[in-house]
Amino acid sequence: MANIYGGNIPLRVDLTAAAQAITTLSGGRKHVACVVLGSGFSKWAQGLPDAMELPIDQLPNWPTPTVQGHSGKVFSVVIQGKPALILAGRVHSYEYLDGGLDKITFPVCASIAHGCRTVFLTNAAGSVNLSYKPGDLVLLSDHINRSGLSVFSGPDHDGVRQQPVFPYFADQSDVYSAVLRGRIKETVSARLGIELPEGVYAWMRGRTYETPAEIRELRQAGVDQVGMSTVPEAQTAYAMGALVAGMSLITNYGAGIIAGSVLDHDEVTTAAKAAMTSFTRMMDVILPILVSPEGLTT
Ligand code: HPA
Repeated sequence: MANIYGGNIPLRVDLTAAAQAITTLSGGRKHVACVVLGSGFSKWAQGLPDAMELPIDQLPNWPTPTVQGHSGKVFSVVIQGKPALILAGRVHSYEYLDGGLDKITFPVCASIAHGCRTVFLTNAAGSVNLSYKPGDLVLLSDHINRSGLSVFSGPDHDGVRQQPVFPYFADQSDVYSAVLRGRIKETVSARLGIELPEGVYAWMRGRTYETPAEIRELRQAGVDQVGMSTVPEAQTAYAMGALVAGMSLITNYGAGIIAGSVLDHDEVTTAAKAAMTSFTRMMDVILPILVSPEGLTT
């Protein structure tokens, strides 16, 4: 796949082919919501009502993650009678020399082309805000793009400029829908007695962790948590008209916060595993909201 014109924007023709394959492989389900999780959550997804795995090698143009711990599995499930897609794992821009942004946004954009109206994006993140600690779940209120990359750059058409996938100069003022966030916070508070905090997420390209100076600079810039994903999918989903929300699992303190400590990928995956139960309990409450967004508008 890859945009043959060399841009960061998936081609509409490729999105349409994948969107139709989702319908066919799921036996005709019309999915209304799309959730992106770390691939450690395949087991949870498999246990959801009427779960079926859609083989990604039969989804045309679908990208295959290369990072250990990111399986990239796609599940179709049915929540309160409404089909939803669970994407367990994702690809990251650091896997590609050129940023590969069309591959990163492809699964979410294809899900929207298929008919999903809400998108929920999760990630592992380091804390920048000193009051957030490993194990905390934090909704995204907004983001800052520190990757130097733009998902909206490059050719966006199949040779004729007729059906751009994204509007030109797309608005980005409510990427993480304030009304959807409000509904999630209210419901989580009522059902679980948890007051979900919010934070501004910074997207760093990776594949390194930050320096302590970078973490201090991000804090001064108003950032609460930092990671290497989510922003491309959030920006494109919002530009395609979906209602978007996102949540970080804080897996570690940002570099330099704990004097003398160093960061590694194993620490992040171990922390993610340790938080599995609280994370899935939260998702069980959030999923029904995503499939029934009636009354919520951007
Ligand atoms: N920095 C960037 N990405 C991350 C981190 C971090 O500290 N933790 C998990 N993903």
